[in-house]
Order: sequence, then C-alpha cells, then structure tokens
Amino acid sequence: MLNPRLETEIARPPACIPVSPAKVVPDIIDDAREGLLFPPRSLPPKYFYDEKGSQLFTKICETDEYYPTRTEDGLLARNAGNIIAISRPAQIIELGSGNSGKTRRLFNACEQIDHTCSYAPFDVCAPMLEDTAGQLQTEYEWLKVTPLLGDYHAGLDHLPGFNERRLFVFLGSTIGNFKPAEARAFIREITDAMAPGDYLLLGIDRVKDVQVLNDAYNDSGGMTAAFNLNLLNVLNRELDADFDLSHFNHHASYQSRHSRVEMKLVCDTLHEIQLKKIDEVIELYPGDEILTELSHKFTYGQAEELLSDCGLDIVSHYEPENRYFSVILARF
Ligand code: SAH
Ligand code: AVI
Repeated sequence: MLNPRLETEIARPPACIPVSPAKVVPDIIDDAREGLLFPPRSLPPKYFYDEKGSQLFTKICETDEYYPTRTEDGLLARNAGNIIAISRPAQIIELGSGNSGKTRRLFNACEQIDHTCSYAPFDVCAPMLEDTAGQLQTEYEWLKVTPLLGDYHAGLDHLPGFNERRLFVFLGSTIGNFKPAEARAFIREITDAMAPGDYLLLGIDRVKDVQVLNDAYNDSGGMTAAFNLNLLNVLNRELDADFDLSHFNHHASYQSRHSRVEMKLVCDTLHEIQLKKIDEVIELYPGDEILTELSHKFTYGQAEELLSDCGLDIVSHYEPENRYFSVILARF
C-alpha cells in the first residue's frame, strides 16, 4: 500500500516557476497611461487573460464559428507523429500555452513511439498554467511538467537553459496578435533562445473568406463579446476604475487592407470613468472606441517568409483542404 503522505506528494501539481524578466516591459499602469487617456485608445491583448478571460477564451475555442482551434487540432492530430519523429525533442517548450489542449496531440504521439520528453508551458495566466500543469501530470505520468510563469514580451533569454534538443511551440495563431514588425522581432527572440538543430512549431491563421472571419470573432453565443468586455473588469480591478460594462459594445471586423481582424470596445453613451490608481479621469462620448486586439491573417507565402526571414528552414508545412490554417515545422 502506498504511504498516504507519498500519495499526496505525487498528486500535488507542479509549482509554477516565475521567469524573471530579461528586460523591462510596461505594466498595466504604464499601458493605461499610454493607451487609454487619449484617442486613438488601445491596450495590448495580454490583459485579456486573467482567470475569467482564459476560461472565456476556452469557451470561444468551443464555438462553432471559431474555426482556428478545431482546424489546428485536426492538423496536429494527423501530423503529430511526423512532427515528433522529425524533431525528437528532449523538451517541448510552449509559449502562450493556455490550456495546452492541442499540445496533447504531441504527447500522444510521443507515447505511441515510446519517446519521452519534458514539457515547459510558459504563460502569463497563473491559474490556467497551474491547473493545466496539474492535469497534464495526471494524464501523462511519464511527462515531467515544468510550468513557467511570465510575460514573453519581457524576453526569452531568462528561460531556464536546456542543453538537449528542444521543440519550441507557438500555437493558436497568437503570433497574429503581434503587429507585423513585432511578430518578426518575436520570432527572432525565439531563434536567439534556440540552439542549432532545435525546432519551432508555429500555428498561424490564414487569409480567407471575410464572412468566415467575421463570424469567428462575432460568435452567436456571445463568448467573444464576453471575452472582450471582461477586459473592462480587469481594468476596474487593476486600476481601481469604474468602467460601466453596460455602456460598451463588442465590435470585431476584418479589415482586408491590413489583413487583420480588429476588435474594439465601443462606448454607447457619454461616460466619465475614474481611474483612481493612476489618478486620472477619462471622458468617452457615444461612438468612442478602445482597440483591444489585432488578429493578423497570413497567406501561405507570408507565413513561410516570417520564419525564413528569421533564419529558420521550413521542414514541413501542414494545411487542411480548405486552407484555413497552417502549422509549420521549422528547423534552426
Ligand atoms: N496556445 C493556446 C492559447 C492561445 S490564447 C491555444 O492555441 O489555444 C493566448 C495565450 O497566450 C493565453 O493563454 C495567454 O494567457 C497567453 N499570453 C498572452 N500574452 C502573453 C504574454 N505576454 N506572455 C505570456 N503569455 C501570454
Ligand atoms: C489568441 N488569439 C490568437 C486569438 C485570436 O483569434 O486572435 C484571441 C481571440 N480573440 C478573439 N477571439 C479569439
């Protein structure tokens, strides 16, 4: 019989390891001063992901309209064996890992060929990271999970070092939430953290029919609207502010000129908001907006160029028949 003390130790989820920032990045106070006080108003998307925001994102992924998750998952289900056979990682390190839902396809592929490796999910949302790490440890007893907590904009060179082959994973088309120059700079930061022979697996959303794109960001169940509006709850909590959510509407539409979905919160009344923590007041008028997210879409060629421009060799480019999404495996 197992010693009961030992049993609780085995069940305990792995503790999150804070990644110390390699460079100073703005916090919510800096970003609010910079982006909220005067038009054009905007905020970076990382503030969406408090505990509730991460749960809402999971719900978005389950909607009929939000095709990226199931499309990418299908690609991984079909090709994970190939990806693992080629990359043979000693560690899988995932940026913006969320609930690691699709990454399980890679772990399943490892199991199929008795390949063992460790897994380091890196995310800014502590509750999601902790929960996911605990679940994975139970589901895959052989997998050593080391959850890394931090902001990937603060640099990747303080990630714990590793001297065997690594597979970097960046799924969900989160790269599309960066502006084009920032996306390139970020891929370069990833390559700076890579050793020759390491691999990067990138999930990236494609340009497609405008109606499909607009529907994906305006689901009929209102999950995306709730996710967008929850940003105001985050601001109310973190800035001791008093945004009235009932005066804001979710807007998301594809702008073909920039190949991106622009997501906004639009105010429908005259609304004065106190931001007590930074000792500021803002006045919004009907129609005033806050840009909350950009979600860029790529052509097949642009997706490959992003990686090859940063010194990566494309090894495999997986796409479904409808060409809705790309998963690219590239070698450094
Ligand atoms: N990769 C997952 C989740 C995508 S959602 C999927 O494909 O389903 C984006 C994820 O990135 C969220 O889990 C969010 O918490 C995380 N994230 C956003 N900004 C981040 C940042 N600056 N640093 C680290 N993680 C971040
Ligand atoms: C995480 N990211 C890639 C999602 C996207 O599609 O841009 C976030 C999201 N926003 C609204 N719906 C989903």
